[in-house]
Amino acid sequence: MTRTVLTRASLVAEYVKKRPGSKKWHDRAVPLFPANGATHSARLLDPFRPYITHAQGVKKWDVDGNEYIDYCMGHGALILGHSHPAWVKAVQEQLAKGVHFGENHQLEVAWAELIKSMMPVAERVEFCACGQEANLIAIRLARIFTGRKKILRFVENFHGWADEVAPEGSAGVSTPDVKIIPMNSLNLLEAELATREYALVMTEGGGAHMAGQIPWDTEFIQAISGITRQYGTLWLIDEVVTGFRDDRGGWQAIAGVRPDLTSLGKCTSGGMAVGAIVGRADVFEAFNPRTPIEQRIRHTGTWNSNPLLSSAGVAACQLYQDGAPQKKAAEMAAYLRQEGNKILRQRQISGRLYGRTIVHLYLGPVDFEPRDEFSPPTRDVAKIMSPEMAAVKNTLCLHLLHHGIATMGGRFFVLSAAHTRQDIDKTMGAFASSLDDLVAEGLLVTTKV
Ligand SMILES: Cc1ncc(COP(=O)(O)O)c(C=O)c1O
Repeated sequence: MTRTVLTRASLVAEYVKKRPGSKKWHDRAVPLFPANGATHSARLLDPFRPYITHAQGVKKWDVDGNEYIDYCMGHGALILGHSHPAWVKAVQEQLAKGVHFGENHQLEVAWAELIKSMMPVAERVEFCACGQEANLIAIRLARIFTGRKKILRFVENFHGWADEVAPEGSAGVSTPDVKIIPMNSLNLLEAELATREYALVMTEGGGAHMAGQIPWDTEFIQAISGITRQYGTLWLIDEVVTGFRDDRGGWQAIAGVRPDLTSLGKCTSGGMAVGAIVGRADVFEAFNPRTPIEQRIRHTGTWNSNPLLSSAGVAACQLYQDGAPQKKAAEMAAYLRQEGNKILRQRQISGRLYGRTIVHLYLGPVDFEPRDEFSPPTRDVAKIMSPEMAAVKNTLCLHLLHHGIATMGGRFFVLSAAHTRQDIDKTMGAFASSLDDLVAEGLLVTTKV
């Protein structure tokens, strides 16, 4: 039987036809939200992403009643899956007791203690509203502690969108004190730090983009602590994505390193807006009210560790304690990688699925066989970030959505403890059929002769 090929044009037509409700909401959103109706750049898609009404476990449903297996998982925050019952119970109970006392409370202490128990570098904890805010606090702390201004960052490492953390080349950004260098070159790192002008080195946990689309070399990451100490610079690992996800101790536990500062977000609350900066007690003296005013940070923030958020954080961190959710998510990721790579091989599509609990899709030449399943088969950043392949992944994303599979841009599959082998089998059926359509339309080439 011959297979009908779903070309991009017919796919868009079918996709819109099956989603009249989402189309209506999209049309209402466009004049409101200037990014073609999207409220986050990761939710942009041509023609539109579906409008979701509710989610549970690993599934979510749109206004038209279409069901999706979710691999966005709250932009990485939901390692427990959607609305884990124990987490929901804790939050509901707190809702009835009060969401904001404008006072100190027990839950924030319990939450910080749980974080410290999992991540020993957290000698001190400062809660804030989101991950990028934690990174901005880290910059301020490092400047006060070192008396220096400059910040060293790495190509493609993502830390938020405000001036000093924004991606390289972002419009409207003024950052004379930020320098961005290529990843994984100890020589370049040392040459910069030897100037003794840098307050802080910032690295993304796991590597650039969602826990390591571009991974760190082990030797590089393990050398940073020594080099930064030698030149009087502080080192931050941004564990906003990786914190409590791949390991209860964060990515730093896997890498066997000890940064001065660590930023947290996402999984730290199990699904509510949160940020925290944690690290060395002496660096955090800037928050001490007895510190002279010229060395002090008066930290404000209406939502810092409010009771509702803290109830969510305590419930989530209690569930992370035994490492079971992380283990289950890693097992599901391994199964997805294995099955997905079989599909790529069978079709002779050059590429690889790789990563720990977030699986990245690489489409491009295989330059060598990586030594583990967490790395792509190339070290070439340009190949990993290829704009042509990003466009193919975007179309793949639309195909997958049409099959009821919601990924982050066809680029990342974010796994959780709620995913099952059956979910992944269904996902892989959709992946295979979507790839076949991309090949048949000539958008993706195979190495078949
Ligand atoms: C590594 C990393 N750091 C920081 C941030 C910013 O966190 P938030 O969106 O909570 O401000 C993100 C967001 O995706 C991230 O992936």
